[in-house]
Amino acid sequence: MASKLAITDLLALPNSAVKIPRLGFGVYQAHGPQCVSSTLAALKVGYRHIDSAQYYANEKEVGEAVRQSGLKRSDIFITTKILTPAGSIDKSYQKMLDSVQKIDGPDGYVDLFLIHTASMGAESRKEVYLALEKLLADGRTKSIGVSNWGIGHIEELKGFAKVYPPHVNQIELHPFSQQREVVEFCHKNGIIVEAYCPLVRNQKASDPTLNSVAKAHGKTVAQVLIRYCLQKDWIPLPKSSTPSRIIENADVYDFELTKDEMGTLDGLNQGARGAIVQAVTN
Ligand SMILES: NC(=O)c1ccc[n+]([C@@H]2O[C@H](COP(=O)([O-])OP(=O)(O)OC[C@H]3O[C@@H](n4cnc5c(N)ncnc54)[C@H](OP(=O)(O)O)[C@@H]3O)[C@@H](O)[C@H]2O)c1
Repeated sequence: MASKLAITDLLALPNSAVKIPRLGFGVYQAHGPQCVSSTLAALKVGYRHIDSAQYYANEKEVGEAVRQSGLKRSDIFITTKILTPAGSIDKSYQKMLDSVQKIDGPDGYVDLFLIHTASMGAESRKEVYLALEKLLADGRTKSIGVSNWGIGHIEELKGFAKVYPPHVNQIELHPFSQQREVVEFCHKNGIIVEAYCPLVRNQKASDPTLNSVAKAHGKTVAQVLIRYCLQKDWIPLPKSSTPSRIIENADVYDFELTKDEMGTLDGLNQGARGAIVQAVTN
């Protein structure tokens, strides 16, 4: 049950021996030495799952932090993403391999490789997914998935994919943008759902409903938002470059949102209008 959640919790990926930590750490807009230090701080607090991307231009720094942490590589789950196709399966594969090498060296691997967006057209989605499957078959990633994909994009894979369903779909999720249709589809099909912008980028810090729930538990709005994700069976990926907030965002295991509170937060949903980055097209 929810009260027994712990920072060490893992979820099994579909049709795979791989398990993914239920709390992630985002590094979008963390650059250079700041990315190394915030990732190191997160690993010290107990996060074991880092979410990077080619687009964030910090894969090398994430790898550096993992090496400096002194933790075993196999104890850390690292995700990256490809944003645009390279023009052929082989070229996209090479582009992915470049990321793997930046993160984990010439013989390394990542734990999860995602296609960052669906907005590249069906031909390109196929090219990149086939390249991902090759990366998986070659052991250079342990799992594969998609991000910002709607139901139609995922179902399109059935036409050619060997690996179906994809292991993960990473989308924008928080009380104001619950994307219920695609979440239900993913959960029904065993696809792990990751929540980006789980803190709504701190834009809802003054929201009265969030503040009243936070006050009832003696916790912060950010902690309520992360706990909400965990209790929805989403994997939150809170980002912070502030040491005290990195600790705060992982300190979510000493309280539980009640069924009524979950219902109240569910009531904040604004559909696609509530998304601050993007809601998927189903
Ligand atoms: N797949 C995609 O298309 C996609 C899109 C967006 C994000 N993502 C992933 O999801 C991760 C999270 O999303 P995000 O970074 O956009 O937004 P977020 O995690 O919702 O919010 C991050 C912002 O909130 C602030 N913050 C963090 N902890 C806080 C706290 N306890 N109290 C108040 N403010 C706090 C951070 O500031 P400081 O850093 O200054 O502390 C930062 O400005 C990203 O880093 C990335 O890994 C993926």
